Amino acid sequence: MKMILGIGAGYVGGPTMAMIAKKCPEYKVVVVDINQDRIKAWQSENLPIYEPGLKELVQATLNRNLFFSTDIQENIAKADIIFVSVNTPTKTFGTGAGKAADLQYWEKTAREIVRFSSSDKIIVEKSTVPVRTASAMEHILNANDKGIVFDVLSNPEFLAEGTAIQDLEKPDRVLIGGQETERGKKAISSLVELYTHWVPKEKILTTNVWSSELSKLAANAFLAQRISSINSLTAFCELTGANVHEVSKAIGMDSRLGSRFLCPSVGFGGSCFKKDILNLVYLCQHYGLKEVAGYWEQVVLMNEYQRKRFVQKMLNAMFNTVASKKIAIFGFAFKANTGDTRESSAIYICRELTEEHARVVITDPKALENARIDLKDIEEKLLFEPDPYKAADGAHAIAILTEWDCYRSLDYKKIYQSMEKPAFIFDGRNILDHQELFEIGFNVYPLGKTSLIH
Ligand code: NAD
Ligand code: UDX
Repeated sequence: MKMILGIGAGYVGGPTMAMIAKKCPEYKVVVVDINQDRIKAWQSENLPIYEPGLKELVQATLNRNLFFSTDIQENIAKADIIFVSVNTPTKTFGTGAGKAADLQYWEKTAREIVRFSSSDKIIVEKSTVPVRTASAMEHILNANDKGIVFDVLSNPEFLAEGTAIQDLEKPDRVLIGGQETERGKKAISSLVELYTHWVPKEKILTTNVWSSELSKLAANAFLAQRISSINSLTAFCELTGANVHEVSKAIGMDSRLGSRFLCPSVGFGGSCFKKDILNLVYLCQHYGLKEVAGYWEQVVLMNEYQRKRFVQKMLNAMFNTVASKKIAIFGFAFKANTGDTRESSAIYICRELTEEHARVVITDPKALENARIDLKDIEEKLLFEPDPYKAADGAHAIAILTEWDCYRSLDYKKIYQSMEKPAFIFDGRNILDHQELFEIGFNVYPLGKTSLIH
C-alpha cells in the first residue's frame, strides 16, 4: 500500500488529508504534528477544530486508511508523497517583521524530511508561502549526501473555513505548480493522478512553480480587495443615504464582477487574508515595486479603518462614553460556522471597548474557548457567556460581529425588555431585520445604511 504523509494537522492539514483518505482508499494516509494534544484530539470524539461535515468525514476514514501520529521520523521514512501544511505566520522579528512570511516551520520540516528519508520523494507545498519558496526548499532538500532526490511541487489550498469540506470535495480548481523538467513533469503527473480520483481533469490546472505560488497570494489579495472596496462604501452610504446592499446588488449583477464577496462587515478576519497580502506587499517592496506594494497595502489599511470606524460609531451613538456600560458582543469567530478566531475583528473591537472601560460580555456558539485565549491578558475585565439572552441581560448595547444564523432568530422583543434603555444594536454584519428592531424600540445602527434612531 502506498503511503501519503501530511505534516501539520491544523485547519488545512487535517481536513485535506481526511478528504484524500476518503477519496483514495488504496493509499494509507498518515498525518503528523509536533503538537501532541492536537494529534490526540484528532483521534478522539472532540476534534481540535470545528468545521461542518468534518466529524463525519474523519469518522468514515479514521483507522481505516487515515491515521494521526506524533511519530514524525518513522512516517517520513515510509512516505511516498509528503504534503506540508505547517503554519507560515507573519514574521514578528528581524528583517521583514510585520510583513514577510515566517518560514521557520517550513524550513524545519524540510530539514526533518532530509534527515529521516532514505528514498526519493515528492514534497507538496500546501502551506501558503512566498514566491520562490519551493526553489529554496528544493535546495535544502537536495543538499543531502544520501543521493536522494526530492521533487517539490506547489499545490496551494483554496479552502475557506466553514465550508472546507465542500470546498475540498468540489474545488473550483486544483492548482499544481512544478518544474518544467522531465522529473518535474513526472512529479506533476503523479499529483494530478491523485486528484483525478475525485476532481474532474478540466479543473486541475498545472503551471510553473512561481505562477502557482503567486496565484495563491493573488487570489487572497483579490478576494480581500473586494471586501475592502465594499466596506469603504459603507462609510459613504451612511453619510449620504445610499444603501450599501442596493449598491452591492447593483455592482454584483454585472456579470464581469459577480455577486460574491461584496458583503459589508466589521472587517475581514481569518488567518490568511492579512498575512498573505502583507506577504505580497513585502515581496513587491523587495523587488522595488513601491507603487504596487502601496496599492495592495491599502486593502489592509482600509480593513483597519473599518474596525476603528465601527468602535467610533458605537462611542458616538452612546453619548461619547461606554465607561461601565455593559456591552454584549454577539459572535467572536472571524466568520460563521467556525470556532477559529485568528485575526477576527472581534479581538480588536473587544480590546478597544475594554480600553474605554466598557463591561464587555462575549457570546459565541463555537469560539468562546479561543476568545478566552486571544484575550487572556485582559480576561479579568471580560465575561464569557454561551447564552446570548444572558449576555444581553442588563446590557446597554449589542454588537453583532459574526454572522451566525442563530443570531437571526433570537427573540429580540424579550432581549429588548431585559436591556437598559435606550437600548442600542450595532449590526456589524447586517444580518438582522433593522426596521423590526427599530419598531421594538432599539436604536439601530446597521453598516452602510441610515441608522434608525428614536
Ligand atoms: P495551523 O496553525 O492550524 O496548522 C499548522 C500545524 O502545523 C500546527 O498544528 C503545527 O503544530 C504544525 N507544525 C508546525 N511545525 C511543524 C513541524 N515541524 N512538524 C510537524 N508539524 C508542525 O495552520 P493552518 O490554518 O492549517 O494553515 C497552514 C498553512 O495553510 C498556512 O500556510 C496557511 O496560510 C495555509 N492555508 C490556510 C487556510 C485556512 O483556511 N486556514 C486556507 C488555505 C491555506
Ligand atoms: C480565505 C479564502 O477565501 C480561501 O480561499 C483561502 O484558502 C483562505 O482564506 P477564509 O479566511 O477561511 O478563506 O474565509 P473567507 O470566507 O474568505 O472569509 C474571510 C473573511 O472575510 C471573514 O472574516 C469573512 O467574514 C469576511 N468576509 C467575507 C466579508 O467581510 N465579506 C464578504 O463578502 C466575504
